[in-house]
Amino acid sequence: MKPRKLKANIYWVGAVDWDRRLFDELIPLPDGTSYNAYLIKGSEKTALIDTVDPTMAGVLTNNLNQLDVKNIDYVIANHAEQDHSGTLPQILKLYPNAKVVATPKCKSLLMNLLLIPENKIMTVEDRETLSLGDETLEFIHAPWVHWPETMLTYLREDKILFTCDLFGSHFATSNLYVTDEATVYESAKRYYAEIMMPFRTVIQKNLEKIKDLQIHMIAPSHGPIYDKPEFILEAYRDWIYSPPENIVVLPYISMHGSTKKMVEYFVEALVERGITVKQFNLAKTDIGKLAMALVDSATIVVGSPTVLVGPHPNIVYGVYLANALRPKLKFASIIGSYGWGGRMVERITEMLSNLKVELLNPVVAKGFPKEEDFRKLDGLADEILDKHKEHNLTN
Ligand code: FEO
Repeated sequence: MKPRKLKANIYWVGAVDWDRRLFDELIPLPDGTSYNAYLIKGSEKTALIDTVDPTMAGVLTNNLNQLDVKNIDYVIANHAEQDHSGTLPQILKLYPNAKVVATPKCKSLLMNLLLIPENKIMTVEDRETLSLGDETLEFIHAPWVHWPETMLTYLREDKILFTCDLFGSHFATSNLYVTDEATVYESAKRYYAEIMMPFRTVIQKNLEKIKDLQIHMIAPSHGPIYDKPEFILEAYRDWIYSPPENIVVLPYISMHGSTKKMVEYFVEALVERGITVKQFNLAKTDIGKLAMALVDSATIVVGSPTVLVGPHPNIVYGVYLANALRPKLKFASIIGSYGWGGRMVERITEMLSNLKVELLNPVVAKGFPKEEDFRKLDGLADEILDKHKEHNLTN
């Protein structure tokens, strides 16, 4: 993609990665992604905001060539992760006058991760400004979205907030701006769930910090630009502040059909009680879909058989992720089966230590579920409904 003009002197110069399907060898990218970098040509100085993933370094340098950029004074590193900083070494080689601008924490990360020489980096404090002549950059430290060094850059005159990962979406598109809000909402929610949700409380503080800024545009470093910023600000407020909903998320595995039978029966029982269920077979599911379901759900019920005295390994993976993502869940339970013994329930319970959930009585069947097991599942469904009602989640 060629450079795209946002304003008379501001350009998108990033790269769209249509084909990438996995991030961090972990996170599925069903819609690819982009690494957005922005060039601001001030009347006196030129700044590049973020770079691109090193696999696409040539796209960035080609874009700068197309704009006939002969000199860059500052490269703003909002975040040290390599998908934004990884092309810094090439940029510093091509533009030897350039200084990297970063938070003090980011400086040490860039030196360690990318071997950037210390004398090439200038640090900025929270709310410090940098003049480009007719344009002014204001740096807003926003730690833990999602690394400790992250910052936002606000272009005062044009009221554009460059947020790097915050508010981003892994969504490859030829459109510079959001055109289809429903599609971008889905990608941004997936991004929030996978990357930002563990830092929910700290993001609250960062939202507070920017609440008095006049923002005409939010320009993240993944996905399209928000020219109507309220769309994504409102979505973040909802994901962060709103109470969870009358939803049970049900990740499960079944090897020989016993747990599956319990899951099927239990899902019907919940639906009959007016509870929405999001069911995921962890042998087949896109783990990002599970993460998204966790954003709004009040209850998680894990369904597992017993393997070598513990839960199925795919359940260990799913529960580990759910625990690490720290969603707003209020209740948890476990259903499943065993052949001759084991500690499946205890192991899963131990893995939920990050979650501030009330554990509801598990239902575990010896072998294929029998009448008494189905009655216990009815009881668990009743208990979940009661708990959701107590917390006013059923309206
Ligand atoms: Fe897009 Fe945390 O990097």
